[in-house]
Amino acid sequence: MKKKKITVLTGAGVSAESGISTFRDSNGLWENYRVEDVASIEGWYRNPAVVLDFYNQRRRQLKDAQPNAAHRAIASLEQDYDVTVVTQNVDNLHERAGSTKIIHLHGELTKVRPEDRCNERDGFSEAEVFDIGYDDISLGDLAPDGAQLRPHIVWFGEAVPKIEQAIDAVSRADILLIVGTSLQVYPAAGLYRYAGYDTPIYIIDPKDVPVNDRRIVHIREVATKGMEIFKNILKSE
Ligand code: APR
Repeated sequence: MKKKKITVLTGAGVSAESGISTFRDSNGLWENYRVEDVASIEGWYRNPAVVLDFYNQRRRQLKDAQPNAAHRAIASLEQDYDVTVVTQNVDNLHERAGSTKIIHLHGELTKVRPEDRCNERDGFSEAEVFDIGYDDISLGDLAPDGAQLRPHIVWFGEAVPKIEQAIDAVSRADILLIVGTSLQVYPAAGLYRYAGYDTPIYIIDPKDVPVNDRRIVHIREVATKGMEIFKNILKSE
């Protein structure tokens, strides 16, 4: 029998219990760094060394982080459902927890590419993207074509090439689950609107969420506890 489709939209909150800072909580990344300096294309042009250092620090932190029970619970849904994870996160914790179908809307921390590739000119080809694991990259680390290597991250001011795939995954879902995102950054924040007219939407977040929609059930818990509740809801269906 064909498995029901669950699409899981995740944000930084799903990795919070793995010790990875979120962006907009108290003492979050954006309290300690100016977004425009470290996560925008203008910041890259202005001072690439500052940007490289910001991502080097996050890559080193990721090396010691482990997937938490929420990542594992999301991966375990694949036993009974056709699951697509659409994540805003650049960490690799969904992969390491065992999820097999993941769309990284905002890029991947362990990957780099020549700074003149994977953009509008080459149709966002990922042919030149490669994985460096948890190593640093510095100014002067060049790609074979001689271009400076840059993080394979979608910065503010850049296109989100995988948004069409994400829309498709949300529009085809039988159930939409949203875990740990403040729903502040578009186009990701608008994805839930593509869910079907009668598609149930569950949001796991310990805080209020800025959306008001009759299809939404808000599970006001942290991700690990919220996933236990969500899986019990599925069992009772
Ligand atoms: N479990 C579940 N949710 C949590 C937890 C937790 N333990 N801790 C915090 N949260 C929730 C917060 O309440 C908030 O709603 O996770 C959300 C984190 O929101 P943000 O810090 O804004 O992170 P996110 O929504 O992923 O940001 C989106 O913004 O800066 C860009 O590119 C960056 O991908 C990021 C995007």
